[in-house]
Amino acid sequence: MEQVREIYAVCHVNDVAKRRAVGYVLARVNDEGKTVPFPIVIVRHQGKYFAYVNRCPHQGSRLDFEPKQFLDPTQRFLLCGKHGSVFDIATGLCNDGPCKGEQLEAVEVVIDEEEVCIAGVQIAEEDGLDREENDEMPEVVIQPD
Ligand code: FES
Repeated sequence: MEQVREIYAVCHVNDVAKRRAVGYVLARVNDEGKTVPFPIVIVRHQGKYFAYVNRCPHQGSRLDFEPKQFLDPTQRFLLCGKHGSVFDIATGLCNDGPCKGEQLEAVEVVIDEEEVCIAGVQIAEEDGLDREENDEMPEVVIQPD
């Protein structure tokens, strides 16, 4: 039987404005079966959407060291606000800064019916993280950052 590939809707395409980046914290199941926070950044660039784990390869800090600031002032690069590493938006490769040559961890993006979705990751369902039960909680736990 053919296996159905799971995709997870993160936001509407218009939730990420042109030449902008938005952070989300999802919940993921890791290799040990534990549910852990999964912070990602979604970037809209030249008509496409890219997603990366919100973690700098230099010292593991979140890129938006200054909250919600993911891009450099020209809005052409992702920027780690801690020590200034600059990353190509389309590839995640660090062009300049202390981790030059290293790469952000990419997350596969699929656009489905105007939703920006991610694939290739096991996202935890509603009772994932330690939080109070809430019947109105969406199927995938998403916290706008
Ligand atoms: S932690 Fe990102 S550049 Fe140092």
